[in-house]
Amino acid sequence: MILIKLGGSIITNKEKPLSARRKTVENLTKGLKKINEPIIIVHGGGSYGHYWSVKYDMHTKERKYDLRGVSIVKNSMIELNKIILDSMIKNKLNPYCLPPTDFMSGNKPISKKIKEIEKISKSGLIPVTFGDALWYGQKKTYILSGDRIMTHLAKALEPRLCVFALNEDGLYSDLKSKKLIHELQGEKPDISENKMDVTGGMTRKVEEASKISKMGLNVFLVNGNKPDRIVKAVKDKTFEGTLFRGKRNV
Ligand code: IPE
Repeated sequence: MILIKLGGSIITNKEKPLSARRKTVENLTKGLKKINEPIIIVHGGGSYGHYWSVKYDMHTKERKYDLRGVSIVKNSMIELNKIILDSMIKNKLNPYCLPPTDFMSGNKPISKKIKEIEKISKSGLIPVTFGDALWYGQKKTYILSGDRIMTHLAKALEPRLCVFALNEDGLYSDLKSKKLIHELQGEKPDISENKMDVTGGMTRKVEEASKISKMGLNVFLVNGNKPDRIVKAVKDKTFEGTLFRGKRNV
């Protein structure tokens, strides 16, 4: 089984509020169609969820955030989710939409529900979930990022490969020259904080990716503008991006 995160920076235009990159989404779903293995899709918020979370000052910490913000973030994520689902349906894939409320209780994943997601994906349906604003308890809510969902799912399901589709070729050792890091084994690279993003932008991705690889699973950071790179990584195990090699695969 393969876990794939479609980052908000690839499915939306982060410079422009509430704008989806429909053509890119279309190309991605066409790429997914070439994968003949069970997959689970997680997508981010980009200029939908992140735009509103910033406006309403909502973060990953559990707090009493503005309830209006909770509703509006959720609503925007449904809107973005619908764009992904529509594109999948149009390209003859069978998505099965699962908002994170379906498998999260407070900030904990419900293991029985997550096991069910595995069964759903093995049936041929494609579970699709996303980062969202979530109820925590006692009037507190929080932003659950898609990257964190990837870690929850990876831990419970031990997929063969986790893929993070980004708007970059992978991780660069040097931002200026864009020198790509091809492979990492265990070590966590030093990435400077992206303050614009409520869930921590690239820093969060690298953190979750290295956490998952420490569980022994391979994690691949790839350019989502080139969906064939995702297909190649899955099919031929050729990694044109950054591979965090899981310990057991070293
Ligand atoms: C964001 O999820 C969820 C909300 C802000 C509601 P992510 O943090 O995974 O989104 P991207 O991929 O970085 O945009």
